[in-house]
Amino acid sequence: MLSVQGLSKRFGGVHAANAVNLRVEAGEILAVIGPNGAGKSTLLNLLSGLLRPDEGRIEFLGETITQAPPEVRAWKGLGRAFQIVQPFPEMTVWENLLVGALYGKPNTPARVAERVVEEVIELTGLTPKAQTLAGELTLLEDKRLELARALCTRPKLLLLDEVMAGLRPSEALEAVELVRRIRNSGVTVLFIEHLMPVVRALADRVVVMDYGQVIAEGPYDLVASNPKVREAYLGRAS
Ligand SMILES: Nc1ncnc2c1ncn2[C@@H]1O[C@H](COP(=O)(O)OP(=O)(O)OP(=O)(O)O)[C@@H](O)[C@H]1O
Ligand SMILES: [Mg+2]
Repeated sequence: MLSVQGLSKRFGGVHAANAVNLRVEAGEILAVIGPNGAGKSTLLNLLSGLLRPDEGRIEFLGETITQAPPEVRAWKGLGRAFQIVQPFPEMTVWENLLVGALYGKPNTPARVAERVVEEVIELTGLTPKAQTLAGELTLLEDKRLELARALCTRPKLLLLDEVMAGLRPSEALEAVELVRRIRNSGVTVLFIEHLMPVVRALADRVVVMDYGQVIAEGPYDLVASNPKVREAYLGRAS
């Protein structure tokens, strides 16, 4: 579904992404993990178009999208949710989702956009909160809204950056269930996560980054016992 070759991005002297190669298969849930500053968010920003790479190539569904703006990528089926949730606080949940449904596609007929919102609001369990102002939601509801907003762009591949951060363990489990439901609805998922129980529960495959490079990849158990991976985490004393 997605293929990345030799992707690099520097910030001054920092090589935030350093010749990254990556493949995402249709239907899988892929986790990207790594210590703080490893370059995970940078990779996601390069994939979603928030950043442009210095070098390398991104192909999505057989098309090169390396230089495409974010809204074009969204329109082609690349959706994303953010590490820091940023809903419009003065708008209702419903209105926030309608914005998502129209993102990059302003000519969508209102009826079509509303139908998308109805489906997504149901899938994400937000139906009882439809008329609540986004600014009045709990953290867990906020996370649901962020996921829902990304889903409203009708992604084929959903990119998630630490959407479980700050949740209590029981809430994280609910969020895990929701991500599974999203995948089962036909959406491929690439997620960044530092909560290892979540990674273990969700990921079909894990990619590990350190200093901008992919240092390991494979099933969770294999990656977790990889000496290079253990060293990357222990070496930062975090
Ligand atoms: N806009 C920017 N300007 C300058 N440096 C940046 C910028 N974005 C990221 N960096 C640097 O690039 C490196 C990778 O950062 P990135 O945010 O991608 O890491 P991360 O793996 O997402 O970390 P975390 O787990 O803390 O979220 C870090 O050294 C960071 O300081
Ligand atoms: Mg990050």
